[in-house]
Amino acid sequence: MPSSDPVRIGLVGSGMIAGTHLAALQLCQHAKAVALADYGRDRGGRVPRGAALAAERGVVRYHSDYRPLLQDPEVEVVLVALPNALHAEVTLAALEAGKHVIVEKPLCLSLEDADRIVDLAQKRGLVAAYAEELCYVPKFTRAKSLIEQGAIGALFLLKQREIHAGPYSDWFFDPHLGGGGALMDMGCHAIEYARWMFGKRPVRKVTAQLETFVHHHRRTPSGLVDDHCLLHLVFEGGGVAVLEAGWTLKGGMDSTAELQGTEGVLHVDLLKNTGLRLYSERGLAPQDLSPGWSTPDHDSLWQNGYPQELDDFALAIRSGGTPRENAADGRAVLEIIWAAYASAQQGRTIELPYRPEAGAQNPVLAFAEGR
Ligand SMILES: NC(=O)c1ccc[n+]([C@@H]2O[C@H](COP(=O)([O-])OP(=O)(O)OC[C@H]3O[C@@H](n4cnc5c(N)ncnc54)[C@H](O)[C@@H]3O)[C@@H](O)[C@H]2O)c1
Repeated sequence: MPSSDPVRIGLVGSGMIAGTHLAALQLCQHAKAVALADYGRDRGGRVPRGAALAAERGVVRYHSDYRPLLQDPEVEVVLVALPNALHAEVTLAALEAGKHVIVEKPLCLSLEDADRIVDLAQKRGLVAAYAEELCYVPKFTRAKSLIEQGAIGALFLLKQREIHAGPYSDWFFDPHLGGGGALMDMGCHAIEYARWMFGKRPVRKVTAQLETFVHHHRRTPSGLVDDHCLLHLVFEGGGVAVLEAGWTLKGGMDSTAELQGTEGVLHVDLLKNTGLRLYSERGLAPQDLSPGWSTPDHDSLWQNGYPQELDDFALAIRSGGTPRENAADGRAVLEIIWAAYASAQQGRTIELPYRPEAGAQNPVLAFAEGR
């Protein structure tokens, strides 16, 4: 395959983020969508909309089950855009089938599966990319480069906040499908953003407070997930991150960061100051606008880093390199998330490396079941 040919991606999943990636792929230089599959059976009992989404976006090859997509010779890379609990199964099967993978956040739900994904990709010489788009957002990459050029001296404190009213699909509230609540869903963005800004130095201490402030009515037979989290991370060498992630904010979405250094401070607002300010009682589809006040971007896919991450992954695949965000990063994030659930449950700071004691319950499920 000539190295300049776009990398051929097959998506698995037909929900919100699959639609976003299909739109982003139309802006990519180095990657294109060639196929789309649904998981096969939606255990939530709904009819998957893959055939309609593929037709809307001009994707010619549609498979109603993900397994034929893994055998499709046209597909070089499998992009996993399914509920969190299904990531490991489809990712490992894709790697076994010899495909590169792009996995949506969080990488998977257990440290054992994360290790399997990292190891299998390495053994097979395949790229396992981790779709954390915050590390490709133009405002955040500019902030990082300003700091690297010395604009604020040495970074010692990072405060980041990403918060909205909560997800649109029921599976996010099921501890077995979502694998946790707002921390698993939104906290993973915050954690990887902080790791990346601190040069991916190891995190040594994690302290978390997790609450369910608004979504008590979403209790399932497997328990109740958190809808708000506050995290305190201490990095090796001394940097500190204070992170807030939540599904509790009424009236739109906030995504901001404050970076304090020994010689300055830098504020980033991802969503405001777009030049557009809208009040809409009904909102639009979840990927577009939430009801209430919003500040739509004229180029929101680009401002959110989606085409840039896919092009980075494609270039790594073509060059045999490592993408900026890869499965090892997803694994590191998951370890911090597990430590955070253990911290919230035990009411103490957890030191990393973290592994639950042999035979101990998954700390995420233990947290949800105990509420
Ligand atoms: N990076 C980001 O900004 C971002 C944003 C949203 C979602 N995500 C991630 O993308 C993944 C998919 O999320 P989404 O927002 O597209 O979800 P969604 O609910 O919009 O779509 C989920 C897809 O999985 C299928 N599905 C749902 N429940 C299922 C079940 N029980 N069994 C089998 N199939 C099922 C649906 O048919 C659909 O194709 C998640 O891992 C999520 O964390 C990432």
